[in-house]
Amino acid sequence: MSHFTLATQLAPEEYRILDAIEISMRKFEWVPLKNILFYANLEHERVNFWLDKVHKKGLIIRHSGKPEGYVLNSMGYDLLATHALAEQDIVVSIGNSLGVGKESDVFQGIGPTGEWLALKFHRIGRTSFRAIKNKRDYVVGKFHTSWLYICRVSATREADHLKQLNGIGADVPVLRGHNRHVVVMKQYNGQEIQEFPTLDDPRGIFEQVIRNVKKIYHEAKLIHSDLCEYNIIYTDDKKVIIIDWPQAVSTDHPNAAMLLRRDIENVCKFFGRHGVNVDPEAIVVEITGT
Ligand SMILES: Nc1ncnc2c1ncn2[C@@H]1O[C@H](COP(=O)(O)OP(=O)(O)OP(=O)(O)O)[C@@H](O)[C@H]1O
Ligand SMILES: [Mg+2]
Repeated sequence: MSHFTLATQLAPEEYRILDAIEISMRKFEWVPLKNILFYANLEHERVNFWLDKVHKKGLIIRHSGKPEGYVLNSMGYDLLATHALAEQDIVVSIGNSLGVGKESDVFQGIGPTGEWLALKFHRIGRTSFRAIKNKRDYVVGKFHTSWLYICRVSATREADHLKQLNGIGADVPVLRGHNRHVVVMKQYNGQEIQEFPTLDDPRGIFEQVIRNVKKIYHEAKLIHSDLCEYNIIYTDDKKVIIIDWPQAVSTDHPNAAMLLRRDIENVCKFFGRHGVNVDPEAIVVEITGT
């Protein structure tokens, strides 16, 4: 896919229809036409015309049974988020896929200064959505409301954590913006460490990771909680970047000790395979100072 410019994806009336449906999805499983009429702020006769357009473009789901109504699907939600990011001058265009995670799609983007970006679209529950997609309509509607909400919460958490971590100068992606279920970061050229058959300096990389975990533990009071070789990028200019922060928890979380230990064990196990032999327990003590 080549890059496309975001600002010109839909007509203004189409965004208004999507906005109106989004607002009412907080209250309705299937958003009634009268709510769309109320919020879209368009002439009555035009609403049906534009509603039909966004439906044909595959951005909303129409429920013709009882109750009659509409919901956004994930593409409609994506367009609302990317449109807002374009309006806020955070993202100018969007292009190739950088990775498909279990719970996200990450795409390359370009910012207003020409900077390369990574746009992470949170897609929590995608697999269960696929599984129930063909069941009764009301299930889809009900699921979709929570899907929207859960994905937005997850992205908001990740953006908040990144902002905090950027503030202490940790080696994590620099946050450029956030809207709805989308987090915008600087893009890093490199690979997840698990992709390297051999690492050129395993001990040095290991130490960079642990230095960051310790700094983050003390200065941001956070624990990653999903730290592993899939969430550590080693860049072409030999820098460590720790990614994937929605699930991070505070150091006073009831499971903090267990989560920190698990993170350290994952890291030690991976680097052990690259000849770095360390005792995870000693590392935990070194980090917490207890
Ligand atoms: N800032 C970035 N720069 C470059 N590539 C990135 C960036 N952020 C994420 N990626 C790529 O996208 C992939 C998925 O990102 P991330 O791990 O944050 O998502 P995820 O869905 O939580 O993944 P999973 O659940 O599979 O661990 C990463 O493994 C990486 O290849
Ligand atoms: Mg990941």
